[in-house]
Amino acid sequence: MNREGLVQDDHVSRDRDRTTTLHTLLHDSTARLAAAGLATPRLDAEVLLRHVLGIDRARLFLRLPEPAGEGVGEALDVLVGRRLAGEPVAYLTGTREVMGLPFHVDPDVLVPRPETELLVEWALEWLKPRERATVVDIGTGSGAIAIGLAALARADLALTIIATDISAAALSTARRNALQHDPLVRSRLSFVQGSLLQPIAGPVDLVLANLPYLTPAQIAENPDLDAEPSLALDGGGDGLDLVRLLIADLPRTLVAGGAARCAAGFELDPSQTDAVADLLRVTLPGARVRTIHDLAGLPRHIVAY
Ligand SMILES: C[S@@+](CC[C@H](N)C(=O)[O-])C[C@H]1O[C@@H](n2cnc3c(N)ncnc32)[C@H](O)[C@@H]1O
Repeated sequence: MNREGLVQDDHVSRDRDRTTTLHTLLHDSTARLAAAGLATPRLDAEVLLRHVLGIDRARLFLRLPEPAGEGVGEALDVLVGRRLAGEPVAYLTGTREVMGLPFHVDPDVLVPRPETELLVEWALEWLKPRERATVVDIGTGSGAIAIGLAALARADLALTIIATDISAAALSTARRNALQHDPLVRSRLSFVQGSLLQPIAGPVDLVLANLPYLTPAQIAENPDLDAEPSLALDGGGDGLDLVRLLIADLPRTLVAGGAARCAAGFELDPSQTDAVADLLRVTLPGARVRTIHDLAGLPRHIVAY
């Protein structure tokens, strides 16, 4: 395009920002996302518009009848285009809230899912009667589990949390997230690179893991996952390659003294929970094994304690 064309385009987009209301931008973006068959077009459009404007939900609603302002329509169009190309909203805004805590997310880490909150909730309950505990979070990604626990556990609990990941890039995102918290939370956390429990000498009271558990076929048939790192998704043949290896190493790392003193919890695909429960019964004889269902009523976590 020649310079004249660019100048004209610039005028057109400035005029649009002067005359178009935020309400119209929200409506048009929602329609574009809906036409592409996205599951939550209105929510996605609203979050992206709030991100462009840097305002919260209540303020957006107050400002909806106002003209968009310079550059807003253009910036929103770019983000909607990237969303249509498959990028998750959380990568576009760079943030996702989990357990009421803000996490920076980028394409080096899985976008934390709401069901992971339930595993953290269970761990907080398990920790309740204790005065001190050492916990490991295997495959920490953004740090959602480790940092969630560190931030939400009672202040008088002497808590040591070791968060591991095989990915150095993921660990640097997790460290960045930890830095947003106060000194007590930060002092509870350390980050170690390595595979599964290999960097952990033990003894550990509680092992938590949301490891990659999808099969290659599940990943291939879900284009929504294309933007997330395959290192965070691919669990090999039946999805349980890493979970099996981790469970086999639990007796080495969990504290001695029987099931009353230690525990392990896994996030899984609903189709895998029975197999993992059986595996834990064999590997940790005497442990109680329980299934936690997610908000959709699906078996999502297996805990042994
Ligand atoms: C499903 S993501 C979970 C991230 C985070 N825990 C959460 O719940 O949002 C799995 C994480 O495991 C890591 N990972 C993959 N293979 C691993 C291995 N062998 N040892 C340790 N971490 C691994 C990936 O890099 C990824 O960050």
